Amino acid sequence: MIWMESENMIKTTRESFLPFALPSISEEAIDEVAAVLRSGWVTSGPKVKEFEKSFMDYIGTSEAIALNSATAGLHLSLEAIGLTEKDAAITSSVTFTSTAEVICYFKAQPILTDVDRTNNLMTPGTLLETIERECVFDGKILRHKDTGKVVRAVLPVHLAGHTCDMERILEISRKYGLKVIEDAAHAFPAIHKGKMIGNWGDLTVFSFYATKGITTGEGGMVTTNHSEYATRMRIMRLHGINRDTYNRPGWYYEVVDAGYKYNLSDIAAALGIVQLRESDQFWKRREEIAMRYNSEFAEISGLKLPEDDLQGKHSWHLYRIELDPNIAKIGRDSLANGLKDRNIGSSLHFIPIYEHPFYKKKFKFKKKNYPNASRMYDRALSLPLFAGMSDTDVDDVVFAVKDLLL
Ligand SMILES: Cc1ncc(COP(=O)(O)O)c(C=O)c1O
Repeated sequence: MIWMESENMIKTTRESFLPFALPSISEEAIDEVAAVLRSGWVTSGPKVKEFEKSFMDYIGTSEAIALNSATAGLHLSLEAIGLTEKDAAITSSVTFTSTAEVICYFKAQPILTDVDRTNNLMTPGTLLETIERECVFDGKILRHKDTGKVVRAVLPVHLAGHTCDMERILEISRKYGLKVIEDAAHAFPAIHKGKMIGNWGDLTVFSFYATKGITTGEGGMVTTNHSEYATRMRIMRLHGINRDTYNRPGWYYEVVDAGYKYNLSDIAAALGIVQLRESDQFWKRREEIAMRYNSEFAEISGLKLPEDDLQGKHSWHLYRIELDPNIAKIGRDSLANGLKDRNIGSSLHFIPIYEHPFYKKKFKFKKKNYPNASRMYDRALSLPLFAGMSDTDVDDVVFAVKDLLL
């Protein structure tokens, strides 16, 4: 830490940049990856199978399908339930583009819900409000009023690792005949009402992107208890071929559909296996940091802190705060800039979907339908949170935030 005198203020700047997220890669993980590199089999093979088995055991489902991203998982999930261009699907306005873009892959209609003010999640209330505002139900089929498309699925997003109210979202979805595909990119390892995320909806999609709770560099996993979905996804993740390359007894194979190239490599899976083993310890460290932030920042006026998940276990993927521009000493953008000046990274999760040029041009989303998402967009910021943060890193963030806001 360098101390600098600038006018009347004492300012601290870190010597090295602290990003808002970094992966934690152990020597054991590096050794396991190196062993795969030396083995002669680097694409999908025994390590992918082992990773799927370990993940399934951890979550408690009967199926786990490893893929090269969560986006691929969301895409194949919608493909497995048979989404077409005559259909629509409901998701949250506060998510990464992946959750909405996959609906567009099918030329289907994305329908967006607002979020709650506290955790910025789709709730049973915002889901029902959206259905009432934008859909008609004839007792059997739910249709999007504007396009006449059939609503087939709901995609709740466990933003930051705080779980959505799955019991009631499932209840509403069942009433309208909708499949539930959870975007759990942030929710490993998270528990909702005593049951791990991964076991609730029809399909659940996890991400192993570089910044996530565990990483494979790039990667994803879908969990489900429906074997027919798993079978379909295993075919569609590899060109629509009906047999794995690794298990193929001879040269013969059949292409049964126009599939995709979404398989995970054994190199990535080897990293995933070790990360999974280390995940409880990663989670404990993230929780410890989140609790330290909570207690350090409790007295700052105009600063809303993230809530612990009272319905279960928060994965603490992100530590998202909100600044009330009418009360806080400085606004969100000034805080982000102030942190940057002190060599500390931050991020925003997320720019609401309806704010992006593509979605604006393509669909008629009305901003007035998303008051809480819009409010969040003016106020939210994610502070650094990752298992590899040292106590000094945490001290630097605490000092900088207090220095800027008190
Ligand atoms: C909420 C959410 N969903 C989906 C994704 C996509 O994950 P991936 O990069 O593994 O495709 C992300 C990635 O950041 C995300 O934050």
